[in-house]
Amino acid sequence: MNAQTATATTTAPMPPLRRSTTRPARAASRIVLTGFMGSGKSTIGPLLAAELGWTFIDLDSEIERRTGLSVPQIFSERGEAAFRKEETAALAAVLGRARTVIALGGGAPETLGNRLLLEQTPGTAIVYLAAPFATLAERCAQQFTNVRPNFADPAAAEARFATRHPIYGRLAHVSIETDGLSPQDSAAAVLAAVAVKTSPA
Ligand code: S3P
Repeated sequence: MNAQTATATTTAPMPPLRRSTTRPARAASRIVLTGFMGSGKSTIGPLLAAELGWTFIDLDSEIERRTGLSVPQIFSERGEAAFRKEETAALAAVLGRARTVIALGGGAPETLGNRLLLEQTPGTAIVYLAAPFATLAERCAQQFTNVRPNFADPAAAEARFATRHPIYGRLAHVSIETDGLSPQDSAAAVLAAVAVKTSPA
């Protein structure tokens, strides 16, 4: 699998992505979706998993299952630092699974330890679902069921996006520009860009 970028129409310019310097897996036995809040990780992940006959894991749901608390509850009752510790523990617990699509939370790649876990787990294809901030904000505004503590302040969220966009790009083996693409089209673009191991592990 080569590092590559699939392009689609964008509404606003984003800083160019620097290609990943990590060595991509030849044939992945898991796909990890990364990207900012609203990038479609939790929508596109199940489509990919269904197409491949793999399992889908949403890391936020895994954290909620492990702690018995919702993500907003963890933020409000324990703080973001405690959430990040739970996030790292949950990531370490699920990352070894094969034939699995994992949707990270938008902040997971900011933690160095998480990036090292992701980069050093063999057979892992990391995909950045990229979109301009305006698109992400619009998508999040339309989702009333997913409360995101880190999108409460739009200016702070935009600053986080500016920090994270290059991190996502460097971490990922593949970046897909999803602006203007349906979830189905985005899933197809991921499958076209990632070589997956089709035989059972
Ligand atoms: C966060 C993103 C959320 C969730 C938490 C923090 C972030 O996940 O992990 O609210 O800091 O970007 P999604 O990206 O799935 O919304």
